[in-house]
Amino acid sequence: MTSDAGRMTSGAAVRGMRAAVIHHYGGPEEFRTETVPEPVAGPGQVLIDVTLAGLNYADLHCRTGEYARYPLPAVLGADVVGRRRGDGRRVVALLRAGGGYARVAVAEAAHTVEVPDGVADAQALALLEQGATAYGALTLAGRLRPGETVAVTAAAGGVGHLAVQLARELGAARVLALASTPAKREFARSLGADRVLDPADPGLADRLGESGGVDLFVDLVGGPVLRAGLAGLAPFGRLLSVGARGGPEESFSVDELADRSAGLLGFWLQHVLADRALFAATAARLFELAAGRRLVARIDRTVPLSGVAGAHRVLAARETMGKVLVDVGRED
Ligand SMILES: NC(=O)c1ccc[n+]([C@@H]2O[C@H](COP(=O)([O-])OP(=O)(O)OC[C@H]3O[C@@H](n4cnc5c(N)ncnc54)[C@H](OP(=O)(O)O)[C@@H]3O)[C@@H](O)[C@H]2O)c1
Repeated sequence: MTSDAGRMTSGAAVRGMRAAVIHHYGGPEEFRTETVPEPVAGPGQVLIDVTLAGLNYADLHCRTGEYARYPLPAVLGADVVGRRRGDGRRVVALLRAGGGYARVAVAEAAHTVEVPDGVADAQALALLEQGATAYGALTLAGRLRPGETVAVTAAAGGVGHLAVQLARELGAARVLALASTPAKREFARSLGADRVLDPADPGLADRLGESGGVDLFVDLVGGPVLRAGLAGLAPFGRLLSVGARGGPEESFSVDELADRSAGLLGFWLQHVLADRALFAATAARLFELAAGRRLVARIDRTVPLSGVAGAHRVLAARETMGKVLVDVGRED
């Protein structure tokens, strides 16, 4: 949230709004529900009267100051859905400068898309950040081809559960889903995964390598699972890093990759967002799939604005399946 301190200007003309605010980087206990000045839209920006804000894994790192060190006090939250000020149109937006856990958010117009009638607010919100990540990772970075075998880590999570469905939709012949609990694995299976695996299984690399191995290993977690992913690749397979939980990362030598004819890839949603036409086309595709019920986001829970701290706790404790939402109009 690079300019939020500037946006929180005080003065008689500035209206107040309720928001979940942090005054220090630290644990979830840092959140305070407070009245703060409404943000002000600058050139190329729009104001949104927010109905729902989303949680993303990166929010946890933003809160501790490890990811992006926003000026304090700060309002975190990277995605919102609501009504655009001025024309009242239903829009969903990605906020690269934070500010989502609030009744009003300011968004770049270029990072805002209108929500079609056939898609509910919660679906649109759960699909945009995490769906565009899953779709971009599979298609742009991973270059998934029909008939390939795809594996997805954190497969019951916000990005992961959409990646499992999208891999199917894009013609993967087999989808392997990795998730840490039986309930999560059962959920991943219900989404169309052919096989579910426990990332803690010491024989994981062998299981991934069965039936010819994995063509595209989509990793949302980082760390040791990447090594198992490399070992389980089919010849010419691709290891795709999309996310990290924090902590030491694996490194691979060129020789290790060459020995397997393997590719090592990365994906960052920012490169989709930076291209308005690509971002809009991605959103349109996701909404089309959602309207046809071919892609369904699971809403794990919706918490009130005063419940953001608890929502951060359950996300960090790996207790969620799908997307966590904040109803910014509620304070219980
Ligand atoms: N590259 C990009 O542009 C981009 C964009 C959006 C998100 N992401 C990344 O994608 C990943 C998923 O994001 P999300 O918002 O959808 O989160 P999420 O998947 O809903 O939650 C994170 C999941 O990571 C797994 N995990 C493994 N080790 C963990 C640990 N030590 N602590 C907590 N969780 C752990 C857990 O699944 P299990 O219990 O099943 O292991 C947990 O449910 C994150 O790494 C995020 O940063 C990247």
